[in-house]
Amino acid sequence: MEKSVDTMEKVVSLCKRRGFVFQGSEIYGGLKGTWDFGPLGVALNNNIKREWWKMFVESREDMYGVDAAILMNAKVWEASGHTGAGFCDPLVEDTETGERFRADHLLKDAGVDAEGMTLEEIDAAIADHRLVSPKGNPLSPARQFNLMFESRIGATSGAEGKVYLRPETAQGMFVNFKNVLDSMSPKIPFGLAQVGKAFRNEIAPREFVFRVREFEQMEIEYFVKEADWETEFDKLRTDIQTWHRHLGLADENIREYEVPKNDLAHYSKRTIDFEYNYPGKGFDELAGFAYRTDHDLKNHMQHSGVSMEYIEPDGTRYIPHVLEPSFGVGRAFMAVLCEAYTEDEMGGEARTYLKLPVHLAPYRVAVSPLLKNKPQLVEKARDVFAMLKKEFGNVAWDDNGNVGKRYRRQDEIGTPHCIVIDFETLGEEKPELADTVTVRDRDTGEQERVAIGELIGYLK
Ligand code: GAP
Repeated sequence: MEKSVDTMEKVVSLCKRRGFVFQGSEIYGGLKGTWDFGPLGVALNNNIKREWWKMFVESREDMYGVDAAILMNAKVWEASGHTGAGFCDPLVEDTETGERFRADHLLKDAGVDAEGMTLEEIDAAIADHRLVSPKGNPLSPARQFNLMFESRIGATSGAEGKVYLRPETAQGMFVNFKNVLDSMSPKIPFGLAQVGKAFRNEIAPREFVFRVREFEQMEIEYFVKEADWETEFDKLRTDIQTWHRHLGLADENIREYEVPKNDLAHYSKRTIDFEYNYPGKGFDELAGFAYRTDHDLKNHMQHSGVSMEYIEPDGTRYIPHVLEPSFGVGRAFMAVLCEAYTEDEMGGEARTYLKLPVHLAPYRVAVSPLLKNKPQLVEKARDVFAMLKKEFGNVAWDDNGNVGKRYRRQDEIGTPHCIVIDFETLGEEKPELADTVTVRDRDTGEQERVAIGELIGYLK
């Protein structure tokens, strides 16, 4: 379904109002490029990560999980090339105010694609288009700005104490390649998978959680024989498509963009960006899929002196090549919410609801007593709540306002089912309905009477 251009604004407002996402450090005026996830945001994020882990790690024989430290020896980033120009964005400054901007973004707004341009070409394009800062002041010449956050470890002050916050989780897997080979004896092809935080000092964080300075990635480094990379690339590409469907994203909202050779990252020979059609923004990156060749393992072998070779049973030795599906949790979160956001009419009233897949909804089900001042109803509802909580974990107790309001509230946060315990449950009016409850479906609003003993099976 086509979403209106203001869907994103509505999603952002819902996120704040209903406890999904808050501005980072909000009570102190915020911190640009950071967002805090509230109770429902954590639940949705955890569901995305858990489903990803189930699909890409637990359900397969060829994947091994790792969880490397965020702080790594600075030599890792020299070997990977991240300390060099390859991990920089072109920056220009407003010469009056000192405000900084991404030159490629300013050029893009002027209709110029700056991908692959040298700094001189960027300066020439800015001059040609007579670009000035958003405040109307002249811009400085462009310079390269490295995106890694620097810090120091312990009490050391010299260069030896320098550390970086990791800008991708990927390197934590490359540096553990040999450890996994030695401890698990995996057979090629196999992959390492990791979920964790990454940090980039983005010049221009923007568009809610789309481009931020602290975010989470779900990444796989898949090790193959060089000769097999294309076959394995096609298989993983299909797995990524399956994953996006599992998130509930419609095929027509996903586009696969073959990154042109001159725009490839410093380590890649082929990359496909999986783009999502964000409402009001259009197609933009959701996840990346790169063929990284043997760039990383070869460089780590040269810099560390430790062999990164794989040895076949017949004694053949080689450095494996790498395929890398890389997903941003925040971008998946944003795409899932935009896709799920729905406005319709029910019972003659406008309503907003999140049509989330059951396996992603923050709450699987909500339980309410019809009236909160009737102890028998509350007691019975508490029993049903305890039973479902034991089974599903993510069950909401909701006794605020009237039942109609509760339904609307649960619809807005995407709870697939609401259960109401009423006088019929107690067997007071119709004895044949004793120990049955009303189960309401979020999407259709239809209600069914289900026996308490059959509730778990019904919901499953
Ligand atoms: N290891 C490869 C790698 O990091 P990338 O294309 O730079 O590749 C992978 O990042 C994914 O991480 C992106 O597709 C996006 O989903 C997410 N991502 C990257 N930078 C981000 C940022 N500043 N804010 C939010 N998500 C980001």
